Amino acid sequence: MTLLQVRALRTHFLTRAGAVKAVDGVSFDLQRGEILGLVGESGSGKSVTGFSLIGLVDPPGRVVGGSIRFDGQELVDLAVTRMRELRGRRIAMVFQDPGATLNPVLTIGRQMVLAVQAHRRLSERAARALAAERLTRLGIPDAEARLDAYPHEFSGGMRQRVAIAMALLHKPDLIIADGPTTALDVSIQAQILVEMRALARESGTALIWISHDLAAVAAVADRIMVMYAGRIVESGPVRATLAAPRHPYTRGLLDSLPATAQPGARLRQIPGNTPALLSLPPGCPFAPRCGYADAACVTDVPVIEHDGRMARCHHPLEPRP
Ligand SMILES: Nc1ncnc2c1ncn2[C@@H]1O[C@H](COP(=O)(O)OP(=O)(O)O)[C@@H](O)[C@H]1O
Ligand SMILES: [Mg+2]
Repeated sequence: MTLLQVRALRTHFLTRAGAVKAVDGVSFDLQRGEILGLVGESGSGKSVTGFSLIGLVDPPGRVVGGSIRFDGQELVDLAVTRMRELRGRRIAMVFQDPGATLNPVLTIGRQMVLAVQAHRRLSERAARALAAERLTRLGIPDAEARLDAYPHEFSGGMRQRVAIAMALLHKPDLIIADGPTTALDVSIQAQILVEMRALARESGTALIWISHDLAAVAAVADRIMVMYAGRIVESGPVRATLAAPRHPYTRGLLDSLPATAQPGARLRQIPGNTPALLSLPPGCPFAPRCGYADAACVTDVPVIEHDGRMARCHHPLEPRP
C-alpha cells in the first residue's frame, strides 16, 4: 500500500542572485513499511527534500511546485497546525544532531515517559519500562539506571540512540532520518542501523534514510534513490541497483567506495565538483563530469524505466560481465 506519493516536487531558494533549484522535479512512491535510502554527494538536495516532505523548509526556500500525498492527504500548502499534528503523531524525524530533539533540562527517562504518555494511556511505571526496553534494544547498557541521566551525561552516540528510540515510540507511519549516524563511529553506526531497521520492521514504520554513505544505505534500505543536482537520477531495488547501476553517477559513487574497489587499487573519485544549482547547463547536470557524455547529453534527458528501476540518462550502462 502506498503511504507517500511525491510528484514533480520543486523546492527553490529564492535568493538575490536567482532561484537555487535545490529540489527540481522529484517524484517517487513510498510503500507502507518500506525503507528507502536517499543518497548523493553533499549539496545534491537530500536534506531539502526531507524538509520539504514535512513542511520545514526555511525561507528563502519554498516548495514552488508539485504534490506530496501522505496517506491520501495533500501536504503541500497544508495548514501549519495540521502539519504540526502530523509531525507529532504520524511522521517523525531523526537528524544528525540529536541535540535538536532532546530537552537539556529533563532527564532522558522523564522525556521518554512524557513522549509515551502523550499518545498512549500507560502508567508512569509501564511507560518507564517501555522506555528502558527500547533503549536496551538500541544497545544502551544498563538502560533502566541510565533513564535518570540528563542528555549532557550521554555521549553523542547514546543521545542519537535516545532520539531514535523516541522517534519510534509511537510507531509512526513514517520516519525521515537525515544522516542520523554520520557523526558516529563505524561500529556504532552499524549497530544502530541494524536495530533501527528491526524496530521499524516491527512497527510497520516506513523509513526514508538520507545519507551520503552508500554502504550504510546498502545495508539498511529496500530501495535506493540516487540524487544529483536536485533530481533523482536513478532509483530501484537496492541490490539490483548497486549490483548493476544504470547511471554513470551511481557507478562513480560505487567505484569511490573502499569496500568495492580491487585490493591495492586506487579509489576512483568522480572527477570535478557538484554543479552550482543557480545556473545548471541544459540537459544532464552530470554530463560535465561523466566519462560517457557526448553531444546528446545537452538535450532533454530521457527517463528509462524497467523492472521497477528508473534511470535518467542518455547512455545508460549495460550490466558489467
Ligand atoms: N538557505 C539556503 N539558501 C540558499 N540555498 C540553499 C539553502 N539551503 C540549501 N540550499 C541549496 O540547496 C542545495 C541542497 O542542499 P541540501 O539539501 O542540504 O544538500 P544535501 O543534504 O544533499 O547535502 C545546496 O547545494 C544549496 O545550493
Ligand atoms: Mg544534508
